Amino acid sequence: MSVKTVLSRRAAEGQPSMTIAITAKAKQLKAEGKDIVSFAAGEPDFKTPAHICEAGIKAIRDGLHGYLPNPGMPALREAVCARFTADIGVTYKPAQILVSPGAKFSLYLAILSLIDQGDEAILPAPYWVSYPEMVRLAEGKTVYMETSEKNGFAFTADDIAASITANTKLLILTSPSNPTGAVLPPAEIEKIGKLLEKKNLWCISDEIYDKLVYGGNVHKSIASVSDYCRDHTIVINGCSKAYAMTGWRIGYAAGPVEVIKAMADIQSQSTTNACSIAQAAAVAALNGPQECVEEMRKEFAMRRELIVDMLNDIDGVTCATPGGAFYALPNISGVFGQTMCGVKVNTPMDFCNAALDGALVAPVPGEAFGTDKHIRLSYATSRAQIEEGCQRLKKMIEG
Ligand SMILES: Cc1ncc(COP(=O)(O)O)c(C=O)c1O
Repeated sequence: MSVKTVLSRRAAEGQPSMTIAITAKAKQLKAEGKDIVSFAAGEPDFKTPAHICEAGIKAIRDGLHGYLPNPGMPALREAVCARFTADIGVTYKPAQILVSPGAKFSLYLAILSLIDQGDEAILPAPYWVSYPEMVRLAEGKTVYMETSEKNGFAFTADDIAASITANTKLLILTSPSNPTGAVLPPAEIEKIGKLLEKKNLWCISDEIYDKLVYGGNVHKSIASVSDYCRDHTIVINGCSKAYAMTGWRIGYAAGPVEVIKAMADIQSQSTTNACSIAQAAAVAALNGPQECVEEMRKEFAMRRELIVDMLNDIDGVTCATPGGAFYALPNISGVFGQTMCGVKVNTPMDFCNAALDGALVAPVPGEAFGTDKHIRLSYATSRAQIEEGCQRLKKMIEG
């Protein structure tokens, strides 16, 4: 029996995450003893702060070993409510919060709960790898909305309006964005909120990088724009990026009870609850001192300056300054046509192959994010590694 007949259409048409694949390849080469500089991983290189780890250890010692309520332990749902009130100025009740194993699963549950066959989701491009696959699994259609590098990949309510059709159900909004780092100004978020209300649309607002904004940028949640927006937005956040807790797998969603309950029902039939130990640690993260978040943000801010300057110093490469998150998305189309490390480079994928095999540097090709001109470099790595990696890329390109 061929694989095609074994697998469901849903599985056979699936794409693995390119970022996870490249991160794994870079880790494997490192394990083999190769001196790889990896810019692939979408995770902070810091350790989880000690007081959060201690809360996890205490939970193990105290015997928090069983199943928990499916939507999350009460103390964590309350802590999430308090954080949302403090951070985005929106008040939720615990019944409006669902805790899941990672924000990625929160997003998937939100998409499964809102999208039916044929429904359209507007997605600004370049986009984070997993959204189109999630929309496809829900049998919806992704409508890509191109953004421009000259505007730092920011977009406007008018851009969104031009993508709306009779089938549009929702907007997937990610500010700060992975992979572009764009942070939409509060005034534009207001306009987008008003547009959603006028057109009676929903929004999934992925705010996982909300604490990581730099320079004069500020984060504003679309849920805070109006009562309509609060009642038609599923806000997604989690502990992974702000608290360096990617492996603990804690994400959460906030929104109207009807949708949150539907998401919780799917979770109850698929994975029950997020890990009990990790939930106890997440309570400490959200309720505890927040200075650790600010310390990490400051370090990312310095790395941002360094990487953007070094990339712009390479012939044929231009890099817009990202306002948030921890990614740079340089345009490398100026080097297309050159041969580097024995590879004729005409695409971001060619460039990344040359970089990994020839210069031992691992960026992620733009094809993963819907762009054929850029590569993504995560600067969640030490300044020394950023310097070394950028020097290697410069040498590879300029000779
Ligand atoms: C934009 C965006 N949303 C969600 C996630 C998923 O976060 P988590 O690790 O909590 O599943 C990521 C992780 O890379 C991300 O970049």
